[in-house]
Amino acid sequence: MGFSSNMLSVLFILFCYLLQVNIAINTITSSQFIKDAETLISKDGNFTFGFFSPKNSTNRYVGIWWKSQSTIIWVANRNQPLNDSNGTAAISEDGNLVVLNGQKQVIWTSNVSNIATNTSSQFSDFGNLVLLESTTGTILWQSIQQPSDTLLPSMKLSINQRTGKNVKLISWKSPSDPYVGNFSCRTVERLNIIEVFIWNGTQPYWRSGPWNGGVFTGVHTMTVAYFFGFRVGDDGAGNIDIYYTLQNDDEFLIYQLTSQGKLDETRWDDEKKEMKVTWTTRESECDVYGICGAFASCSSLSSPICSCLRGFVPRNIEEWSKHNWTGGCVRRTPLECERVNNKTTSTKEDGFLKLKMVKVPDFAEGVAVTPEICRSLCLHNCSCIAYSHDSGIGCMSWTGNLLDIHQLQSGGLDLYVRVAYAELDRGRIKTSIIISTVIIGTLIIVICAYFCWKRTSNHPAKLWHFIKSAKKKNNKAFPIFDQGGSPENYTSDNAIGEMSQVKLQELLKFDFEKLAAATNNFHFSNKLGQGGFGPVYKGKLQDGQEIAVKRLSRASGQGLEEFMNEVVVLCKLQHRNLVRLLGCCIEGDEKMLMYEYMPNKSLDAFIFDPSKNKLLDWRTRHSIIEGIARGLLYLHRDSRLRIIHRDLKASNVLLDEELNPKISDFGMARIFGGREHQANTSRIVGTYGYMSPEYAMQGLFSEKSDVFSFGVLMLEIVTGRRNSIFYDFENSLTLIGFVWIQWTDDNILSLIDQEIYDPSNHNYILRYIHIGLLCVQEHAVDRPAMAAVISMLNSEAALLPPPSKPAFILRQDMLSSKSSINNVSITQIGGR
Ligand SMILES: *[C@@H]1O[C@H](CO)[C@@H](O)[C@H](O)[C@H]1NC(C)=O
Ligand SMILES: *[C@@H]1O[C@H](CO)[C@@H](O)[C@H](O)[C@H]1NC(C)=O
Ligand SMILES: *[C@@H]1O[C@H](CO)[C@@H](O)[C@H](O)[C@H]1NC(C)=O
Ligand SMILES: *[C@@H]1O[C@H](CO)[C@@H](O)[C@H](O)[C@H]1NC(C)=O
Ligand SMILES: *[C@@H]1O[C@H](CO)[C@@H](O)[C@H](O)[C@H]1NC(C)=O
Ligand SMILES: *[C@@H]1O[C@H](CO)[C@@H](O)[C@H](O)[C@H]1NC(C)=O
Ligand SMILES: *[C@@H]1O[C@H](CO)[C@@H](O)[C@H](O)[C@H]1NC(C)=O
Ligand SMILES: *[C@@H]1O[C@H](CO)[C@@H](O)[C@H](O)[C@H]1NC(C)=O
Ligand SMILES: *[C@@H]1O[C@H](CO)[C@@H](O)[C@H](O)[C@H]1NC(C)=O
Ligand SMILES: *[C@@H]1O[C@H](CO)[C@@H](O)[C@H](O)[C@H]1NC(C)=O
Ligand SMILES: *[C@@H]1O[C@H](CO)[C@@H](O)[C@H](O)[C@H]1NC(C)=O
Repeated sequence: MGFSSNMLSVLFILFCYLLQVNIAINTITSSQFIKDAETLISKDGNFTFGFFSPKNSTNRYVGIWWKSQSTIIWVANRNQPLNDSNGTAAISEDGNLVVLNGQKQVIWTSNVSNIATNTSSQFSDFGNLVLLESTTGTILWQSIQQPSDTLLPSMKLSINQRTGKNVKLISWKSPSDPYVGNFSCRTVERLNIIEVFIWNGTQPYWRSGPWNGGVFTGVHTMTVAYFFGFRVGDDGAGNIDIYYTLQNDDEFLIYQLTSQGKLDETRWDDEKKEMKVTWTTRESECDVYGICGAFASCSSLSSPICSCLRGFVPRNIEEWSKHNWTGGCVRRTPLECERVNNKTTSTKEDGFLKLKMVKVPDFAEGVAVTPEICRSLCLHNCSCIAYSHDSGIGCMSWTGNLLDIHQLQSGGLDLYVRVAYAELDRGRIKTSIIISTVIIGTLIIVICAYFCWKRTSNHPAKLWHFIKSAKKKNNKAFPIFDQGGSPENYTSDNAIGEMSQVKLQELLKFDFEKLAAATNNFHFSNKLGQGGFGPVYKGKLQDGQEIAVKRLSRASGQGLEEFMNEVVVLCKLQHRNLVRLLGCCIEGDEKMLMYEYMPNKSLDAFIFDPSKNKLLDWRTRHSIIEGIARGLLYLHRDSRLRIIHRDLKASNVLLDEELNPKISDFGMARIFGGREHQANTSRIVGTYGYMSPEYAMQGLFSEKSDVFSFGVLMLEIVTGRRNSIFYDFENSLTLIGFVWIQWTDDNILSLIDQEIYDPSNHNYILRYIHIGLLCVQEHAVDRPAMAAVISMLNSEAALLPPPSKPAFILRQDMLSSKSSINNVSITQIGGR
């Protein structure tokens, strides 16, 4: 017994001794330091802290590398090299991690003040060397907070506008000298827009384009949100952090700022056993900041790479032709802006030329408004030169020179540049020459269709012809036939074909005169409200039946698509929770839809009106929620077609006299083919605050995007607060975020208006909020389908899964707090 334990301790001492000889330790303490040629190894063995010399250099540095010294990720004494191999890395008497030279002089220190002397240093996760208080384990310092030229997972590039603190990458001077170089990479927040910049000294050298909550919009490879794993965080103390996380644990991916000022994404190639650059900020000359000067755009595919924007000419033609682009371009025709402001002739109003898929210029200013308001704000402010809209950023506008526009092959945003009316015309003429044949062809078809239609006027077939000709003319006239850029034929081409003549006959029993009479010539006093594409009037037919008439505004060309869509969709559907179409009327350029009249108007008029909110007791709320859910389930599953509504919101839910909810407004609905579950569109339509993240950011929509809207609506019904204008000033939370925080804090009561709170229904309320949160979860797969929602609503006992963190917790930080998000449907956001 004694013998064997003696033997063990001898072995143990021998083992320790061997470790010492192999000079690989995993902790530096005040009694255990490392000399040159000794190393400190991370637990998984992949990271090493020790002494190295860069290629072609005899100087010694202390740093961290991954697997081999060819992947140095961090350097301590980058500005104070050792010229011999007598250096040591140790814990000094004041408790700091230090590098000492042969004369025991401190040449580098972690420089933490006022610390207990019993400290040690070791690796924590992923190449992060930390200085710990040995007894408590408190982290006093970590290498990840003091980056050199390499961005590692979870390493934060941060700025603090208040304190001016700035954590950035700084390049090496040359590949053989880690001394601080001229290039730095850091986060920049300017006028509510967050971007990453590389600087050459104090000159910008590259920029990422604005961050939109998922991707950097100026990086063409970043088309799919979240793919890169980048995040921007605001820690509440004024720090804005940018960092990334790895998608797979076994992956090794870093970003390195080279001495030439490129930020390289490098990955470990496990087959070739080498580090490989998989992306870089310097793919072409166009990546150099402002290479083309003002009002010019850079495209790496064209030659020369720089060209003036439409409506602009080189400032100095001679220099420009010699490829000296620094002078940039100037406007060819001055703007008519002043004239517009003076309210004189508005025929020559300035307009906007659209640039598709570009890295938008530097110095944008961000505001949270819809695309329509964005455009109008810009048009009516003479100092606004251009605007762009992105659902994640909001409205961006520019007032000065437009610098650093880069034409991308994918990704990017649409930029609208203000030009004089004459330039618009020029553009039109140019375009019309190019596509004149197309137009002539189209015209012939349209004229034929028109005459066919005229001849058969006052006959059901006219709608028939109308549809046919429109369909022939352009499939895209119907959102339901919009292929959305995807080659799969998921739409039901027969939707219209199946519409029977009988049904049409029935629909067209109204003519314009009848409707004009019913609405007292569309008298103002009969107006019920304003829809997306025109006013809605109340009317009374001769037989006493009350109807609602939606009259599409004549000017609205867009309304036609939605009109046809709505006719087709509603013709085929019947459900007690969907509004019923009684008829339609097409005469000349008048287009009207007739519905059953809903005396209680729309849901938003109830729940967001403090005086009416009280009228809805919890039983009614439950039946409204359930009714909407049933209507939605019918659309998704029970009807013969599979339909995604895409614009479910409080104002699109109407209430009949018994407060039964009826879903209305199918202008944006999409019909799916039998097996399709998800589609992609470049044309994102919907309403802010109700759009799911995958739809808003990627144009992906499915039943689950309707479920998201339903969840938002449900939270609105329960809390009586409107998501789109909810603003928690203190924490910049959305309604969803606010509910989530209160939910996790177990503080549901503070959510509910005391006026409507009813203790006897406390459990119901909890359950509604729980279901609502399940519906607004970030990932579409986590959200329940409508069938599941209905069973959750009805079975009080069933256990609900805990919700995961919802999407859109924070208001876009960059959005100005003053401007509220408007409650208008977005009909068009340029696709990406
Ligand atoms: C080292 O020097 C050699 C010759 O002087 C040169 O070819 C090589 O590129 C240098 N390597 C580095 C990393 O500077
Ligand atoms: C190395 O640097 C020290 C000062 O840090 C200096 O005293 C010494 O002479 C240098 N040795 C060589 C070989 O250059
Ligand atoms: C440094 O180490 C070398 C051997 O590597 C030795 O010759 C030299 O005397 C040492 N210098 C000092 C100052 O310790
Ligand atoms: C250490 O930090 C103090 C302030 O905390 C600063 O004044 C000093 O210059 C730093 N020293 C080194 C060697 O970085
Ligand atoms: C320092 O910490 C180590 C490990 O926790 C402990 O064993 C040692 O007693 C401590 N020394 C002092 C002086 O506190
Ligand atoms: C850094 O900038 C200075 C001038 O600001 C210049 O002299 C030097 O050559 C630059 N260094 C590199 C590596 O570009
Ligand atoms: C960086 O700026 C310096 C002057 O400040 C310039 O000489 C150098 O060429 C620039 N480097 C690059 C790569 O543009
Ligand atoms: C460390 O290396 C092992 C083997 O090469 C690998 O399985 C593991 O994922 C690596 N860990 C990290 C964090 O890179
Ligand atoms: C380019 O043009 C600018 C003025 O626009 C001038 O200052 C500069 O010297 C020119 N550069 C070259 C290389 O000609
Ligand atoms: C409006 O027009 C008058 C001349 O009718 C002109 O003097 C004035 O500058 C214009 N106002 C603005 C704001 O341009
Ligand atoms: C026009 O835009 C500028 C810059 O955004 C702003 O400072 C100014 O107040 C705006 N003017 C009006 C009339 O809105």
